[in-house]
Amino acid sequence: MNSLSMVHFYDQGVEAGDVSDEILVGLNKRQKTLSPKFFYDEKGSQLFTEITRQPEYYPTRTEIQLLRDHAGEISELIGEDFLLIEYGSGSSEKIRILLDSLRPSLYAPLDISRDYLAQAAEALGREYPWLEVHATCVDFTAEFELPFESEKRHVSFFPGSSIGNFERSEAAAFLSRIRSLVGADGGLLIGVDMKKDITVLNKAYNDKSGVTADFNLNILEHINREYDADFDLGRFKHEAKYDVEEGCIQMFLVSTSDQSVNVAGHHFQFSEGEKIHTENSHKYTVDEVLKMAKGAGFTKAKNWLDKDALFGVFYLYS
Ligand code: AVJ
Repeated sequence: MNSLSMVHFYDQGVEAGDVSDEILVGLNKRQKTLSPKFFYDEKGSQLFTEITRQPEYYPTRTEIQLLRDHAGEISELIGEDFLLIEYGSGSSEKIRILLDSLRPSLYAPLDISRDYLAQAAEALGREYPWLEVHATCVDFTAEFELPFESEKRHVSFFPGSSIGNFERSEAAAFLSRIRSLVGADGGLLIGVDMKKDITVLNKAYNDKSGVTADFNLNILEHINREYDADFDLGRFKHEAKYDVEEGCIQMFLVSTSDQSVNVAGHHFQFSEGEKIHTENSHKYTVDEVLKMAKGAGFTKAKNWLDKDALFGVFYLYS
């Protein structure tokens, strides 16, 4: 690494063996399951970026507009002299909207996709020479510790409604972990996809161009390549639908025939119509977010919604 560079990289990436155990456990369940974190290999990260550009997928562009419109107010609330930790930073696109007004002393992006994160951190460092960047490759859905210490106030940024991937109880627990990380003088800026008309939701996860379908199927290609599997991508099809009771979009890959698949030397049988669950994307009301925030120890909150109340940005603090 360039010794003049203000970009540092820490690798707390998970071991391949642990990952393949996790995949096998998921596929051995009665409802076969793969964690959505396996979407994000290089191609998956690119496909996700492509999803965000589809006309039906409103969350990203709505959130970006909210951040642009309210950057000043958000910055005033957050204050000065703090370290900013982003969970699942991807291409670090959203933070660029806020950096000039937020001016954090240090930016600490966390992401599971090692190469993507390293590239994004380098690019950001070049674009913002005044900014110190400490990037960490980590699975932040598991318990972890920041690989560096800082006396600064901690503020977390968790955009994109990625909180929706957690079950409701897990989401509450995750917010509590963030609250204990940032403490009483810190805060959390979080983007949450709101409950809304079912048709709008179903369209967002079934775009006409089929990018979401490709994104969903890519999880199998990723596992074939990295974990010695032989899924036939032509024999699974994308399914996504909103479950009103659960308040979430559920995504599956449906086997289109009876078939057997090998994964890391293990054999899995699929019957025609059998599904692999790949993702839940929970939607919230403002009240549900505020209640969860309170439960996590954030006693104060401010929120911004677009005029159609599609998406909400919340600043939670104490
Ligand atoms: C990145 C989890 C917020 O749930 O909308 C998009 C992922 N999956 N289309 C979402 C996703 C299918 C996205 N999150």
